[in-house]
Amino acid sequence: MDRFPDMPEYTGLNTPVREEYELDSLAVEGQLPAEVEGVFFRAVPDPAFAPFVEDGGAILSGDGMVSAIRFAAGKVSCGIRYVQTGRHRAEVAAGRALFGRYRNPYTDRPEAQGIDRTVANTTPVWHAGNLLLSKEDGRPYRVDPRTLETIGSHDFGGKLRSQTVTAHPRIDPDSGDMFSFGYEADGLASTKVSYFIVDRDGELQSEQWFDVPYCALMHDFAITEHYALFPVYPTTCDASRVRAGGDHWVHELDRDSWLGVMPRHGSVRRMRWFRGPKGVSCFHIVNAFEDAGGRIHMDQCLADVNLFPFIQQASGLQFSPQQANARLARWTVDPGSGADTITETVIGPPGDLPILPARFQGRPQSHAWMLTMNPERQGPPVLGGPVGAMFDVLMRLDFTGGPPNALALGPGECFNEPVHVPAQDPAHGGWLLTVINRQTGPDSYASALWVLQADNPAAGPTAKVIIPHRLRPQVHGWWVSAAALSAA
Ligand SMILES: [Fe+2]
Repeated sequence: MDRFPDMPEYTGLNTPVREEYELDSLAVEGQLPAEVEGVFFRAVPDPAFAPFVEDGGAILSGDGMVSAIRFAAGKVSCGIRYVQTGRHRAEVAAGRALFGRYRNPYTDRPEAQGIDRTVANTTPVWHAGNLLLSKEDGRPYRVDPRTLETIGSHDFGGKLRSQTVTAHPRIDPDSGDMFSFGYEADGLASTKVSYFIVDRDGELQSEQWFDVPYCALMHDFAITEHYALFPVYPTTCDASRVRAGGDHWVHELDRDSWLGVMPRHGSVRRMRWFRGPKGVSCFHIVNAFEDAGGRIHMDQCLADVNLFPFIQQASGLQFSPQQANARLARWTVDPGSGADTITETVIGPPGDLPILPARFQGRPQSHAWMLTMNPERQGPPVLGGPVGAMFDVLMRLDFTGGPPNALALGPGECFNEPVHVPAQDPAHGGWLLTVINRQTGPDSYASALWVLQADNPAAGPTAKVIIPHRLRPQVHGWWVSAAALSAA
């Protein structure tokens, strides 16, 4: 094994694992719900080769692995494989890293020229019977959901013009249409954004391009029943800095944030820009919806600064968790008024990795879940993930005025982002599946998948599936039911 640097990106839970395997008949403790039948797909970054440049952004550049945890007739199996991106194949052929700093091709070795740089490591998106491993700096890769073999880069039958596709598309629960976008759509540091719609059969129905106020890190967006919402927060890219071999992203505290609002089936020429607070940052939006008065609300995990340590460092910033003022915030705009103002209301505690029952997408949500930190934890959090510390509380958020319901893990334990498995009984809240890492020694970790009651995570796991391998932190996941898989 070549030597990885002794840095947070490659140590502790972030230590590269680099194993592809299949495991049958995993041990189960407790009772698996009979209706949990299908596959939990997970995107797991895992760098195959040690870097040749020092770069904190490398935490986002690990080669994508696709993991499947399969539930069938009371048995659980799992498998994990590298996504065979152009970049991964080229590096395997060379036997070493060829690509340099995060989103900076000017730092690559000469052999890397012309090869697709994306690593497909962020979300396994399921739509129209296709499993698409996505990362926002390139087009997704389509993977066979049964064998986890890579089929290839996916451009929607040659129709998509955008060079990039978000890892956070939004799927309308009634029509099955997928609303998506790509930023830096025509190249590095560009202000061009592509907005596109794919129908329930996987056909690209429309693609339109527009300009954002500045080139920004646009990780997520939102839809309501009638609108598409494009938030722009001031983590920015500058072409000359990238060309000089510098950082792709710098966070600018004195720059305005913006929210672009347009009819979701309309023309981008009808985009209207609302001005938000200066300097704020958000990676994940819970949901957005319209109220009876026509106002638009967008609920998001917001902070006063970008929370990634490597971006703060590149920006000459150092915020403590208290200074960062992270919160669950609702932004409200009124498309019927002439004002361009955004009203912010704090509606919940700090946290991230929100998940929403699929049926609430774009509609008012009664509840959702997110991960957060236990303020009363004894001892340090588990070190790992892109921010450097893993979450240890899973919280069900009630938007109808009820109290939150939370499960706090013990010392040395942490959550990865759950997926929601709906129940057949509409009165039952369904299930959450989540991978738990537990530190068992200075450099050893145990892994398990927990099944929780979605309406009452505080009750603790209904079942635990033991996974006898160390699992590197996952980014996002997706649940695909056995019925959806067999229909594909
Ligand atoms: Fe994300």
